[in-house]
Amino acid sequence: AAAAEHGVESVKRQLCRLVTSSLSATAPGVDAEPMLEVSRPGFGDYQCNNAMSLFARIRGTGTTYQNPVAVGQAIANNLPPSDIVESTSVAGPGYVNIVISSDWIAERIQNMLIHGVKTWAPKLLVKRALLDFSSPNIAKEMHVGHIRSTIIGDTLARMFEFANVEVLRRNHVGDWGTQFGMLIQFLFEKFPNWEEVGNQAIGDLQSFYKASKTKFDEDEGFKGRAQQAVVRLQQGEDRYRAAWKNICQISRNEFDLVYKRLGVELEEKGESFYNPYIPPVLEEFTAKVVKKDGGFNYASTDLAALWYRLNVEKAEWIIYVTDVGQQQHFHKFFSAASMAGWLPDQNGKRYPKTSHVGFGLVLGPDGKRFRTRASEVVRLVDLLDEAESRCKAELKKRLTENGKIADWTDYELEKTSEIIGLGAVKYADLKNNRLTDYTFSFEQMLSDKGNTAVYLQYAHARICSIIRKAGKDIEKLKMSGSITCIHSDERTLGLHLIRFQEVVEQACTDLFPHYLCDYLYNLSEAFSKFYTNCPVIGSPEETSRLLLCEATAVVMRHCFYMLGITPVYKL
Ligand code: ARG
Repeated sequence: AAAAEHGVESVKRQLCRLVTSSLSATAPGVDAEPMLEVSRPGFGDYQCNNAMSLFARIRGTGTTYQNPVAVGQAIANNLPPSDIVESTSVAGPGYVNIVISSDWIAERIQNMLIHGVKTWAPKLLVKRALLDFSSPNIAKEMHVGHIRSTIIGDTLARMFEFANVEVLRRNHVGDWGTQFGMLIQFLFEKFPNWEEVGNQAIGDLQSFYKASKTKFDEDEGFKGRAQQAVVRLQQGEDRYRAAWKNICQISRNEFDLVYKRLGVELEEKGESFYNPYIPPVLEEFTAKVVKKDGGFNYASTDLAALWYRLNVEKAEWIIYVTDVGQQQHFHKFFSAASMAGWLPDQNGKRYPKTSHVGFGLVLGPDGKRFRTRASEVVRLVDLLDEAESRCKAELKKRLTENGKIADWTDYELEKTSEIIGLGAVKYADLKNNRLTDYTFSFEQMLSDKGNTAVYLQYAHARICSIIRKAGKDIEKLKMSGSITCIHSDERTLGLHLIRFQEVVEQACTDLFPHYLCDYLYNLSEAFSKFYTNCPVIGSPEETSRLLLCEATAVVMRHCFYMLGITPVYKL
């Protein structure tokens, strides 16, 4: 309730409104969108870039402005008075540099501390989004490719949730298709009494899959029988359905272990869920757009799923997270849906909105697709195990070196390495622009230097220890003390803090989690600089500076939270 009551608009949005009003005063009747961005260092805090294009539009229409610089001057002068803007200046061909008031920055941070970081939740246009992510295939191993979809999808979901968007997290597992004919037939032939043996008959599902695939490729007779089995499964014959259900359950149990370990929540609605919707949807499409092949293929299932998501689940934004290789598939089927009138135009944009969030490959040290030495796909669990054990060794070494090892129980060591290792794997993935391939390297991701989760964990833990050492009641300080941003490093830190909201908004809008990682890393850099140059404990500014420490820690933790990383307080 407090958050809703005290929720504020982002700095950028507030400035945009000032600029909009200035633009209409500067060039009445010309409808121009505000162009505002963060300035380069030394050119104010934000800059408005409208003057140049605005001049081009109004020159020769009897305007009195001589050049873009004059337009820039007018934009600056016409900004309505406000507490936000400290000063403006015009630079170069007409850039308007805006300096934010230091008092305003300080007050905004203090309000956040008092009313909670949720008051900095961005306001998005949609109320309900559906995220289709992870979505592995039954009977196949979840590999490093799926970890990308799971981690990126989960982070997007968390960012949207922070922005008060209701998120439907959907696991579109591949639980239907021709591979089941092969698996079921193999099961029946190998264990004619499988109903009695139960899941033991299958044992390790991946090996079972491989064996049945080999038989399928080598034995023509078996191939024919497997194809028959698909038909009988699709017709709903009991024995076939029971076997299918069983196989799905084995996979599901394995997937769930991974999700639990990653701390990811998902609701399974697999391909088979949409089967009943395929015939009517294809019917509609035959009339309007595409030819019908009558099959239950990937694309028809996706059309049926989209129909369901639009009409039953009423999602306003539907987002699919898969490797970039599937981009064509998604763009084709989005335009088919649009041709069928499912995504009508609203002010030049399709509504409801659909997006494909593509991502690149995970590469090994050789620059090729990441594989084990035996050139098998890397299993996710092995990867997490290794990250954790490496972390433990590193942590032990470090604690021994600085004489703190005696303060740690074995359980604490174990738990902490687990948290740090898992966070490191997630962060190493999320910090890259998702569209590019990235090279998987334990050395790199577990380093405590540079843009890594380990470095950020140490940075956060250090801030917490500063606050602890001060021995003050922070809750009381928030209410009684006040923040000032006088030193230039205090101001830089403060300005970065208040940009949190617009960064989350931009990351949600563009569907790019790495914006948030960049922000978090830069925040810890700004803090380092502040801490080097501004003494905290025992200084005359102690109260204000402690509050800046606290605000930094709070914002860092919320970044961690959205990135699916658990903060460690003691390191
Ligand atoms: N199961 C697919 C795969 O592993 C991903 C499914 C993505 N979602 C969808 N609605 N098509 O490649």
